[in-house]
Amino acid sequence: LRQIKVEEGDFGLMAYDPGYTNTASCKSRITYIDGDVGILEYRGYPIEVLAEKCTYLEVAYLLLNGELPDAAQLKEWDDSIRFHTVVHENIKRQMESFRYDAHPMGMLISTVAAMSTFYPEAKKVGSPENRAVQIKRLIAKVPTIAAFSYRHSQGHPYVYPNNDLSYTENFLAMMFQMFNNGYKPDPALVRALEVLFILHADHEQNCSTSVMRAIGSSDADPYSAHAGAAAALYGPLHGGANEAVLRMLAEIGSVKEVPKYVARCKSGEMRLMGFGHRVYKNYDPRARIIKKCAEEVFDVTGRNPLLDVALELERIALEDEYFVKRKLYPNVDFYSGLIYEAMGLPVTMFPVLFAIPRTAGWLAQWKESMEDEEQRIQRPRQIYLGERTRDFVPLEKRP
Ligand code: ACO
Repeated sequence: LRQIKVEEGDFGLMAYDPGYTNTASCKSRITYIDGDVGILEYRGYPIEVLAEKCTYLEVAYLLLNGELPDAAQLKEWDDSIRFHTVVHENIKRQMESFRYDAHPMGMLISTVAAMSTFYPEAKKVGSPENRAVQIKRLIAKVPTIAAFSYRHSQGHPYVYPNNDLSYTENFLAMMFQMFNNGYKPDPALVRALEVLFILHADHEQNCSTSVMRAIGSSDADPYSAHAGAAAALYGPLHGGANEAVLRMLAEIGSVKEVPKYVARCKSGEMRLMGFGHRVYKNYDPRARIIKKCAEEVFDVTGRNPLLDVALELERIALEDEYFVKRKLYPNVDFYSGLIYEAMGLPVTMFPVLFAIPRTAGWLAQWKESMEDEEQRIQRPRQIYLGERTRDFVPLEKRP
């Protein structure tokens, strides 16, 4: 705490908390985490139960509305998402103008930002009806833009949404269908993607969600705020760790090389990617579910030998005093990349695959902040360490 007093009404003390590790930026009723025990709940429902029993859209409804939908509500919600899946042709044309090797995440971020110009009424953020329409549009269109970004990188024609398919089936079809080859994703892979989407849907005030709320706090439209949140997710310390895990497993190569690699991590030469978490000081509950999911996916796709490397890494690390003492456990990223790769999804799509389901979480948090009467524009203070008032030196007299 640093003593400051700018105006008469000021309390006179200011918290200095870099990284906001100990600062609550809002009050929320959406997601609960107990990192010491390894608990994650959305609206009071344990993540394990939701991952087993729900679809992604059901969970998105729960995050946004606070309650699980009944059958009629779910149908109406699902229908309204399907209704909005198509993007404006000019959005498609704009995406065509990206370089052939543009990163899909860069394409997603800028295309979502561009969408605000297609829906200027989205600026009326004070209207609950208007907010509800923009929320549906974003949840429906982000998978379409995501799949277009992948097709673009492949030089393949874009596949339009097929609204006879479910949310995840439709996404896989837009990714992988070639012409009219009757592509039908394997139901086990569709279910695995639903589970991964549910696990990634929200995680309270992480970096990207905080950006969503910060941009939203200036009453900017939700497309601009979503683009900002996605940009925060793009960073390797946030949405990019599963890619790093995959590269690490490939570098290790085989089970017999694992002890040597662990020793290098312990010596401080590098970090064991996919291990450790700022909040979880116990097994990340999402990692436990994903580990099971990986086995189910490999039953369909064939076993990736890198799974054995991952399992051996986990076994050794969990018995090693270095990791035990520091409470380092596998996090959500440890197994997810292996599943995505087995499903034929390229590494560059990994952050995009995070952004699609996190859209529901970002929007739920944005909606909650817009409904919160205590919400003010986010405007942190600083500890100023620079020069104070001094004499100006003309250019010709500067040393
Ligand atoms: N491998 C080896 N040692 C580690 C690891 C790791 N993965 N993570 C932390 N440590 C060690 C640190 O070296 C430090 O040791 P010391 O006390 O001897 O100096 C101690 O554990 C504490 O580490 P911090 O960096 O202070 O922990 P912090 O909470 O700031 O970092 C983070 C959390 C960034 C996730 C870290 O554990 C890490 O870098 N993990 C690897 C990257 C990763 O998997 N990121 C994905 C996170 S999940 C997500 O974003 C969706």
